[in-house]
Amino acid sequence: MIKLRPRRLRISENMRSMVRETNLSVKDLIYPIFVVAGTNIREEIPSMPECYHLSVDNAVELAKKIAALGIPAVEVFGLPEYKDELGSSAWDMNSPVQKAIAAIKKAVPELVIVGDVCLCQYTTHGHCGKLCGDYVDNDETLKLLQKVAVSQAEAGADIIAPSDMMDGRISAIRDALDDKNFVNVSIMSYSVKYASAYYGPFRDAANSAPQFGNRKQYQMDFANIREALKEVELDLAESADIIMIKPALAYLDVVSKVRERINRPVAVYNVSGEYAMVKSAAKSGWIDEKRIVIENLTAMKRAGADIIITYHALDVAEWIR
Ligand code: PBG
Ligand code: ZN
Repeated sequence: MIKLRPRRLRISENMRSMVRETNLSVKDLIYPIFVVAGTNIREEIPSMPECYHLSVDNAVELAKKIAALGIPAVEVFGLPEYKDELGSSAWDMNSPVQKAIAAIKKAVPELVIVGDVCLCQYTTHGHCGKLCGDYVDNDETLKLLQKVAVSQAEAGADIIAPSDMMDGRISAIRDALDDKNFVNVSIMSYSVKYASAYYGPFRDAANSAPQFGNRKQYQMDFANIREALKEVELDLAESADIIMIKPALAYLDVVSKVRERINRPVAVYNVSGEYAMVKSAAKSGWIDEKRIVIENLTAMKRAGADIIITYHALDVAEWIR
């Protein structure tokens, strides 16, 4: 006779719910938004169905909805009004991102605001830093990232999230924030950011594709995991408060290893390519969107993520509330 029968604990939904090891919560989610100049703008992004380019007024309305759904945080990306060689609109207090951060903070003070710090949306060449010939100059870029981080903190950001992958940026940004007395502004580092084809739809949405070459001299080779642990170690030593891994789905082995080794929160970025694949297959009727999304996000948590940045956040909040 079979004595141990795992199926006993799968007999009903209530029984299954009692022994469920991982529970997805609205409180795990961060919703990314894209802000543009102007007023009353709400244009759907072709590569990212049901995501929109929003002017600040509409971003504020959406922020209210995000908070009402119980989602704790929003991450703000912006499309600037002008681009130049250095990406100076990235630290312009009159740029859409800084204005949106300030307006959202005022309208919905309890919502945690994450500012994405990078230069690729703001430079004419589309690279994530200052060029020296065809090379992105690391240490010169740090000085610009410091300005961006401080400008976002001044606007009211609670968390600064650098996504540039320059060496030493966490130290540099921490110093710059502390220097201006922003000691309680946290840093969520894109510590393990792979050079990935999964960012394609985002680059269309943010108009941030590199105008020559690629990002492989600063973003990581997707074949590597020991190097991921090295990047995490460096960011921990440089005082990152939250460690992020990006993309998510194809990199859950990395999430799991990092989770086992560190005692700070781990975030994953469920990126635009992952989102677009789900949306297009769902639209064709080939998959059940709700079930696939819940399964994907639960798998991210099971692997060890505490926080999930996802374009599905609004839908998920409605589904699991
Ligand atoms: C900017 C940035 C990118 C993403 C977040 N911040 C694009 C890139 O590095 O090319 C990607 C997000 C997504 O694909 O959803 N450095
Ligand atoms: Zn960038």
